[in-house]
Amino acid sequence: MHLTRLALTDFRSYVDVNVPLTPGVTIFSGPNGEGKTNLVEAVGYAATLASHRAAQDAPLIRKGADQAIIRAAISTSANDALVEIELNAGRANRVRLNRTPLSRPRDVLGVLRTVLFAPEDLALVKGDPGERRRFLDDLLVAMAPRYAGVRADYDRVLKQRTALLKSAGPKGGPKGNRESREAVTATLDVWDAHLARTGAELLVAREHLVAALRPHVEKSYAAVAGDGRGPAGIEYRRSFESQDREGEEATHGERVRAAEQALREALLEVRASELDRGVCLAGPHRDELELSVRDLPARGYASHGESWSLALALRLASFDLLRAGREDPVLILDDVFAELDAGRRDRLAALVAEAEQVLVTAAVPEDIPEILKGAHFRVSAGRLTEAAPPREPAAAPEPGATPEAADAP
Ligand SMILES: Nc1ncnc2c1ncn2[C@@H]1O[C@H](COP(=O)(O)OP(=O)(O)OP(=O)(O)O)[C@@H](O)[C@H]1O
Ligand SMILES: [Mg+2]
Repeated sequence: MHLTRLALTDFRSYVDVNVPLTPGVTIFSGPNGEGKTNLVEAVGYAATLASHRAAQDAPLIRKGADQAIIRAAISTSANDALVEIELNAGRANRVRLNRTPLSRPRDVLGVLRTVLFAPEDLALVKGDPGERRRFLDDLLVAMAPRYAGVRADYDRVLKQRTALLKSAGPKGGPKGNRESREAVTATLDVWDAHLARTGAELLVAREHLVAALRPHVEKSYAAVAGDGRGPAGIEYRRSFESQDREGEEATHGERVRAAEQALREALLEVRASELDRGVCLAGPHRDELELSVRDLPARGYASHGESWSLALALRLASFDLLRAGREDPVLILDDVFAELDAGRRDRLAALVAEAEQVLVTAAVPEDIPEILKGAHFRVSAGRLTEAAPPREPAAAPEPGATPEAADAP
């Protein structure tokens, strides 16, 4: 699939911008802070209903405005689609698909699929486990949008169960605590069942996903880092004890049921400490995606360059999975080449050059390898101007020539 147009109104630093897009590579270049990432952030938002760098929507609305609008026109081999998102300050966002309002915004997920590489990806390797869980869940939703519902259900159950645990009061608190604990215990049984049911579905799906990702991560890591630098490993680790009683040939349903049973047992076991601490101690919200390079944990051991290669490998592997048997997702490379040495730059460029559409941002266009040729916009103060591709080896400018003239073909 590819975008044919991106139009923004009052999104981040843009008052109004309307960019025609074509398949192949499009480069957005310009000095720091001029709005390159803002553009691709909007594309990512149209695909995932979330920003890759802001946890809340408020910063996405231009300062002084009370609404931002993203419009993305998408073309696939089957049909064309128009996604329109209205981000409202202090009120629910609204989403329209082909001009029809959606009662559930999340029904738009899957219409546009993207894989976004950004400097923030380093946190996939170096950051908290929550970053890696989010990576898995985002990919799960991109692969099968119904998991947006599973994830939302789990988050809701987790929140309510945690509130219940907290309501029991701390250990050794006032006299009333004993009674409140007893009352809570009866209700907890019900919430344990909910948590185990939705949790099992989520974590088994994540385990499947990790198994599917593994060969792609190994391959991509070798491709980016260079031969003999790996291997890179990826392993899903549950937050609770459970023997894998189902064996290799178990069906998806059998695995989910076994995980549900195991999670219920685990919750019973940790219940006393949960009540003491007022937190939910077992479930997919505490599971870990373990990454390794050369059999050492990536977090805390991998070098800066290895961490970067691993983060890129995770995104490349996502791209491989998302495109398998389907149309290519739109690839977005936000400012990644500046972070890489020449060898890794070229290898990454070679891996992505064949994608149906690639959007690339760079402060210094010379950082972008030669093989990524295509349309080129310069971004300056919220305005875009089409530039000639700066691909030709820079001939020495004529004396007195302006920099712009030197770039002309
Ligand atoms: N809600 C907002 N309202 C107005 N301006 C905003 C808003 N959010 C961000 N900006 C401005 O947008 C600019 C950042 O844009 P962006 O992150 O796209 O820069 P960039 O071109 O990617 O820069 P770099 O090369 O450093 O990555 C900043 O100047 C910031 O002040
Ligand atoms: Mg940027």
